[in-house]
Amino acid sequence: MKVLMINGSRREKGCTYTALSIVADSLKEEGIDSEIVFVGKDATNGNIDACVANLKASVASADGFIFGSPVYYASPTGEIEIILDRLFSAAGAGMRHKPAAVVASARRAGTTSTLDALAKYPAINEMPIVSSSYWPMVHGNTPDDVLKDEEGVGIMKELGKNMAWILKCIDAGRMAGIAEPAKPQYSKTNFIR
Ligand SMILES: Cc1cc2nc3c(=O)[nH]c(=O)nc-3n(C[C@H](O)[C@H](O)[C@H](O)COP(=O)(O)O)c2cc1C
Repeated sequence: MKVLMINGSRREKGCTYTALSIVADSLKEEGIDSEIVFVGKDATNGNIDACVANLKASVASADGFIFGSPVYYASPTGEIEIILDRLFSAAGAGMRHKPAAVVASARRAGTTSTLDALAKYPAINEMPIVSSSYWPMVHGNTPDDVLKDEEGVGIMKELGKNMAWILKCIDAGRMAGIAEPAKPQYSKTNFIR
């Protein structure tokens, strides 16, 4: 089993990457593979179509997802938002019913509003949202700061364990013959009379 993580920072190996790496190590301890994809440059330098196409190709083989972003002005980065806007349009069907988690990194404030915005994507796509022992955030301006955030490190480790547990439960359910719910049958309305 594999978890696809998207790092929406403009810094490839910064705080968000550090947080996601802690989750990756925790997943590995539970026998789950993962990959961290850096999208921070391709989202805005003219490569977005190729970036979304590459992610779309990775979606099929992923069993779970983690969307990570630094806090910019109390929100996720524009980079992760444009990537997720495009990816959920292009590959939402391939992510449906697969679990997801969100992660935020900040110097000080804006983490919960950032996590709320990130969680909106899986929440509209029938994806179980995996939580941790606290809202999944780390604090710092540098990777070293993040590693000193003892509670943040612990939260990331728990997130990895919880994601591994949910993935194994879903797999066990599938082996036991529990089918996914069918696609929704209701009509979409664009207005209310
Ligand atoms: C444009 C910009 C806006 C930021 N806004 C905030 C903010 O609103 N609140 C905060 O605590 N930190 C803010 N920061 C700091 C980053 O969120 C913080 O350093 C984060 O851990 C960086 O993660 P990264 O290394 O993965 O990019 C901002 C940084 C930048 C570059």
